[in-house]
Amino acid sequence: MRILFKNIKELLQVRDRSVSFVSGKDMAKLPSIKNAYLLVERGLIKDFGAMANCPNIEADQTIDATGKMLLPAWCDSHTHLVYAGNRESEFVDKIKGLSYQEIAEKGGGILNSAKTLQDTSENDLYEQSKIRLEEVIALGTGAVEIKSGYGLTVESELKMLRVIKRLKDNYPIPIKATFLGAHAVPLAYKNNKAGYIKLLVETMLPQIAEMLLADYIDVFCETGYFSAEDTERILEAGKQYGLMPKIHVNQFTSIGGVQAGVKHHALSVDHLEEMRDADIEALKSTHTMPVALPGCSYFLNIPYTPARKMIDAGLPLALATDYNPGSSPSGNMNFVVSTACIKMKLTPEEAINAATINGAYAMGLENEVGSITIGKQANLILTKPINSYNFIPYAFGTDHIEKVFVNGAEI
Ligand code: NIG
Ligand code: FE
Repeated sequence: MRILFKNIKELLQVRDRSVSFVSGKDMAKLPSIKNAYLLVERGLIKDFGAMANCPNIEADQTIDATGKMLLPAWCDSHTHLVYAGNRESEFVDKIKGLSYQEIAEKGGGILNSAKTLQDTSENDLYEQSKIRLEEVIALGTGAVEIKSGYGLTVESELKMLRVIKRLKDNYPIPIKATFLGAHAVPLAYKNNKAGYIKLLVETMLPQIAEMLLADYIDVFCETGYFSAEDTERILEAGKQYGLMPKIHVNQFTSIGGVQAGVKHHALSVDHLEEMRDADIEALKSTHTMPVALPGCSYFLNIPYTPARKMIDAGLPLALATDYNPGSSPSGNMNFVVSTACIKMKLTPEEAINAATINGAYAMGLENEVGSITIGKQANLILTKPINSYNFIPYAFGTDHIEKVFVNGAEI
């Protein structure tokens, strides 16, 4: 099956294979070809270039993209989209003045979602989650990471990870699974955090590893949840099973999570709303991708990640949704890209780089997706006719997507 896109107004994010992510000043450059063609063969990007060089080939399908942009589908490297029920009652509590932490102290928050998930059958959990996965694919997401962490018992963490596995098996976009057993200390271990960490390390991890249910390991390193010391202990255990870290750090407080992540060669450190200069310093010249989650800052009314300062210091940055029922009930990467421009002062080029190539790197998919590169999967967004790509973040409430393609097939 060969699909030829012709007369593309602008083909965005064209890259050589050697580029696995972009940092600092390079984030401001978004390589593109105006008046371009792109050829897809057997689901992969086979060829592309200027229309003047478009080969005269017989394609099974030809798509005229006059006036439209073609770009890699969004790479959402941080979600919790497998969950049960919702937390809209807490939303109302929040409107009335309670903070995220106060809601959690009242028995809401992660433990509330954990209770609902424990009472939900595996099949029902799959059915609820697949609706969200289909929703984000239609919104232009072409690769996604999904975490466990609303189980908090051996049985329910395994249930969540099996649901993620089933989504991986049944959907065409790349999905990475992250084990987040250390998302909160469950009620049964309220006064025995060490006991829960022992359960996680000695019982959960070996089973998850044996069944190959996780690609990465995560910890919510935060005051009132897991300390930097707890985080290190859990990451060390994960390493025994070959699980690289991708961790939640600096959402509300800076307690050494960034440093713990860097020390354990984390693939990414995520949230980063509270960044000290030492945290920025610690990330320099590492292979750890900082990931900002502006949907969470928006929803919880907490500070945005100081992305401008970080990029100006030479760091790379990825953007993700954090899609979850408590702090970011949206998996819309278009909104994330706009919000990064509007609230974090990223330029459209920086935001698009952060949401494509850098997001792919933050989930170990830099060889598969995230750029227009020969041999990568043809997971693409075709926009409606627009004047320039600046319009994508600018008109923040508009649906700019005409079609989404996964492995070259229209969704
Ligand atoms: O990334 N902060 C930790 N975990 C999620 C929120 C979880 C929840 O509130 O259900 C996050 O924001
Ligand atoms: Fe999260």
